[in-house]
Amino acid sequence: MTNQKDVPRAPGAVQAQPGLETWPFAAIVQASDTPTLLTDPRLPDNPIVFANDAFLRLTGYGRDEVLGRNCRFLGGPGTDREVRSRVRTAVEEVRPLSARLLNYRRDGSAFWNQLHISPIFDEVGMLAYFVAYQHDVTGQVEAEQALRQARRDLEERLAERERLILEVHDRVRNNLQTVIALLNLEAGRADPSLRQQFNLITQRVRVLVGIHEQLKSFGQWAAIDFGRHLRETCAGLEDLFADTVTATVEAEPLLCDIQAAVPLGLIANELIAACFRQVTGSGAVGRCRVRVQLSHRQETGVVELAVGVTGAGEASRPVGDLPGPSAIVDVLTEQIGAELAFDPNAGTRVRLTIPARCFTLSPSSPSGSTDPQVRPGPSGPDYSAVR
Ligand SMILES: Cc1cc2nc3c(=O)[nH]c(=O)nc-3n(C[C@H](O)[C@H](O)[C@H](O)COP(=O)(O)O)c2cc1C
Repeated sequence: MTNQKDVPRAPGAVQAQPGLETWPFAAIVQASDTPTLLTDPRLPDNPIVFANDAFLRLTGYGRDEVLGRNCRFLGGPGTDREVRSRVRTAVEEVRPLSARLLNYRRDGSAFWNQLHISPIFDEVGMLAYFVAYQHDVTGQVEAEQALRQARRDLEERLAERERLILEVHDRVRNNLQTVIALLNLEAGRADPSLRQQFNLITQRVRVLVGIHEQLKSFGQWAAIDFGRHLRETCAGLEDLFADTVTATVEAEPLLCDIQAAVPLGLIANELIAACFRQVTGSGAVGRCRVRVQLSHRQETGVVELAVGVTGAGEASRPVGDLPGPSAIVDVLTEQIGAELAFDPNAGTRVRLTIPARCFTLSPSSPSGSTDPQVRPGPSGPDYSAVR
């Protein structure tokens, strides 16, 4: 099986373990399934002086066609020039090197060659040979290329999907604005006793518009900054109550998942609106204000929304007892798995415990981040301060 003609003649050139002949090792390399060759850098243009059968099988060349030639004949039009020059430099600097490059067989077909080159020194430390192992990694490279392409396709499809979803949100928002215009028209014509009802409905639709608006301006469709949403809701209600009542919002930067944003936005609107009505109804306008707090409870993982009236003259009735909001609040609270509780010590404060799953991202996370953590705040809300 061993072709003695191709085995290097200088036995001392290949380092053998003491006491063993060199030829058994040459025979092993010859019989190996790993394409292997030796070049002689002491000869002009560093030609091949040994090539095993596996190398000949890989490249399709006959032994006579490769012996005496520099290995560059394996390269071709698709061989990366930069990789080729790295190989040249490593050979010139007598360094080992691994490189992956496109090579061509005798019949012109291409294959990806994972090449490992090492210098071999003789017993006096002089450079004697370069040894090279070639691995055909075409299957692996093609699989990697297919994977990269599939990833690019997927990213393009996701970007398109995101664009479409934002477009849908934009259209929904436009339609809701049309509904608001129609409601305003009807409110203008309605009996003054009905006008307040129209205004409350308009405010609810505005909550929905605000959510769709924020999704667009926020540049992502999966979540909204709920603190910002609460501030917008309060601003809308201040407008509705002709600025007779003011509201303050203390909110940790929490991102609310879009699935929960609509029911939660509506619940918050009802609770806050009930407080506005309490202030006006109690005759304490000017002395009371509405206070809204949103925080993440680190101990339990849940998010809490506390809504109440602060200041002197607060009304005695709990906000949840008000006939209007309760039905909506009850249904939506159940829908998102939240819990509503009234402070037993004070009728004007209500606390909504929201499951952590409703809040997915922090607005301060880098855009596009998928960090599923609820961003915890420094502390929970101070309910005793809600007066
Ligand atoms: C031991 C050894 C094995 C080599 N095997 C290959 C090979 O399989 N394929 C290849 O394209 N180049 C191979 N080369 C690199 C080329 O011989 C040459 O160094 C490279 O093409 C850069 O030089 P050039 O720009 O003069 O062509 C090998 C080099 C050495 C020293």
